[in-house]
Amino acid sequence: MNLLPDDDYISGEQLSRITGISRTGVWKHIQELKKEGFEILSQPRRGYKLVNAPNLLLPCLLNKYLKTEMLGKEIHHYYSVSSTNDKAREIAAQGVSEGSIVVAEKQVQGKGRLGRTWSSPSGGIWVSLILRPPISPPESQFLTLVAGSAAARCLQGCCNISTGIKWPNDLMIDDRKICGILTEIRAEVDKVHFLALGLGLNVNNLLDDYPLEVRDKVTSLKLVTGLEWNRAQLLSALLESLEKEYLLFLKEGKRRIIERWKEYDLTLNNYVTVKSGNEVFSGTAVDLDDNGGLILQAEDGELVTVYSGEVN
Ligand code: BTN
Repeated sequence: MNLLPDDDYISGEQLSRITGISRTGVWKHIQELKKEGFEILSQPRRGYKLVNAPNLLLPCLLNKYLKTEMLGKEIHHYYSVSSTNDKAREIAAQGVSEGSIVVAEKQVQGKGRLGRTWSSPSGGIWVSLILRPPISPPESQFLTLVAGSAAARCLQGCCNISTGIKWPNDLMIDDRKICGILTEIRAEVDKVHFLALGLGLNVNNLLDDYPLEVRDKVTSLKLVTGLEWNRAQLLSALLESLEKEYLLFLKEGKRRIIERWKEYDLTLNNYVTVKSGNEVFSGTAVDLDDNGGLILQAEDGELVTVYSGEVN
């Protein structure tokens, strides 16, 4: 894939002037970029020409596309990390500003909901956002719906791919999962200090990238479209969509987001079983409550609301 080709050569002298570093410094940076996978031609008297950029989530590539006001203004990039959510919680506790993101090429201990592991090979998008919304702990689960709606909209608008959302946060294509969301918080009884909103999207991955036991449950953009996607461009679009949805939530409130989430819903009006901790609830999924909980109506008419769990 040919990413961000520059039209022409740029001389070392010009680069030195623009960046304020010496000609030798420029040369050293060019060598570093080549090591990271950038294809750069150099010609005496003409200078340097970028021919191809690697399909990575490096800040310099993301910044080329990013049109957000707040999300991704500070980018923490890792080639390999245990979990971007763990890193996000670490740096959020140190006080980084709202909208900072942690992004990784791969995770070696990716975390899923309900204590599960999340397989995160190279080629996907593994990202965590640090948010500081003025909400109470029970409302934090709601941000998962914000993210689900935003991700589904982005895939529709940017990739022309229709996904459905299985409550609360599984983006599905033909019964296979393409994207999952994990929201973790640091809070007092009535105030959320910060939220690490982690999102995993299978992008340029093939089934062989995943452990055997999940191969019949996952899919990726590449498997669905046959195309190799520019991940930096896609993550920028995703951040834009997430920012829009988050700001809409702050401005217009929960019911508006619930209506938008419902445009992609796969769960409501179905008879479902939800395993929540040690309990199992069954009934027809009739609606979402104001905190994003799933309201089930049992056969005897009784209503029960569940806030986390696995829908089957
Ligand atoms: C799920 O559906 O179970 C949630 C999956 C969430 C995965 C993402 S990938 C980025 C972030 N870091 C993690 O360790 N998990 C989330």
